[in-house]
Amino acid sequence: MSSTRTVVLAGASGFIGRYFRARFEQDGWTVRTVGRKGAKSSPSATWEDDDGAIARVLEGTELLVNLAGRSVSCRYNGRNKAAILQSRVSTTAALGRAVALCRQPPSTWLNASTGTIYRHATDGPQTEQDGELGTGFSVDVARAWEAELEAAVTPGTRKIPLRIAIVLGPGGGALQPVANLARLGLGGRMGPGTQKFSWIHVEDLYRSVLFVHARKDIVGPVNVSSPDVVDNRELMRMVRRAYGVRFGISTPAWLLRLGAILIRTETELVLKSRWVQPQKLLNSGFVYSQPELGRALLQIAKGTS
Ligand SMILES: NC(=O)c1ccc[n+]([C@@H]2O[C@H](COP(=O)([O-])OP(=O)(O)OC[C@H]3O[C@@H](n4cnc5c(N)ncnc54)[C@H](OP(=O)(O)O)[C@@H]3O)[C@@H](O)[C@H]2O)c1
Repeated sequence: MSSTRTVVLAGASGFIGRYFRARFEQDGWTVRTVGRKGAKSSPSATWEDDDGAIARVLEGTELLVNLAGRSVSCRYNGRNKAAILQSRVSTTAALGRAVALCRQPPSTWLNASTGTIYRHATDGPQTEQDGELGTGFSVDVARAWEAELEAAVTPGTRKIPLRIAIVLGPGGGALQPVANLARLGLGGRMGPGTQKFSWIHVEDLYRSVLFVHARKDIVGPVNVSSPDVVDNRELMRMVRRAYGVRFGISTPAWLLRLGAILIRTETELVLKSRWVQPQKLLNSGFVYSQPELGRALLQIAKGTS
């Protein structure tokens, strides 16, 4: 292993990847990348390269974090669905083959997955141990993604799927479209308003990556979410407060579905009830830097987080 700590980020150009690169570098790590394009400054590989080239990037590094995947913010037509699935499964498979070729592979491989893998839950939190997986396209993608990770034969590398909740951070993250609606006065309850909202601040996602890497006793999927789960009615109240909007018109589910067609996205982000409980992180003593949604939203809106 090299003397400086080296991490390989796959899918580093996205919302989470850009934040991770900056934070790893701030913490003194060397960052290498695998992605659609090569990087000029450090060893890197692209998905077009052969397994040996990807293995050379991974060789002697400490940690692999795979974030690659085509954005899910689009209409789920046949073409987009195939790209969403393929971009996750094929990149995970390529990394698996490359890790297997390494003489000194990374000791930990954290692969993005999603809290959406659990069912639409209004009756109770879904933990890693007894949560029930759901049905439908997004769940099928998450299952196939995790199955590909599971199938990789990497005896020297601990593999963990991170079941990540909706990530908030500088610029708003996945919640930005909701904040935009609130600014337009449409920040009332969405659909029934009772659907749960599970989230994580990107800084806590970064810290949980370091935490899980350090805690070699953690095995199997890890839910990466804040324990402060709220319902949509409460979420929208907090969003209005954060962005200084006094009132918010509620939108029924049928209108959201119509609007989603017009802006070429899906309503799943706001209508699915995501009740994810980060049981493994809590049991292992993980401490959140942003445990409260209201506070996190205020800081994001002010541009201080
Ligand atoms: N943001 C969230 O709320 C959230 C929640 C749960 C799970 N996740 C998962 O976490 C991962 C990172 O999320 P993010 O918000 O950072 O996503 P993002 O901003 O869309 O970035 C994903 C990255 O994946 C790579 N990519 C895009 N299209 C690709 C394709 N067709 N084939 C291969 N690679 C492709 C790109 O990196 P390169 O340009 O470097 O190749 C892109 O920057 C994703 O897999 C996402 O599903 C995100």
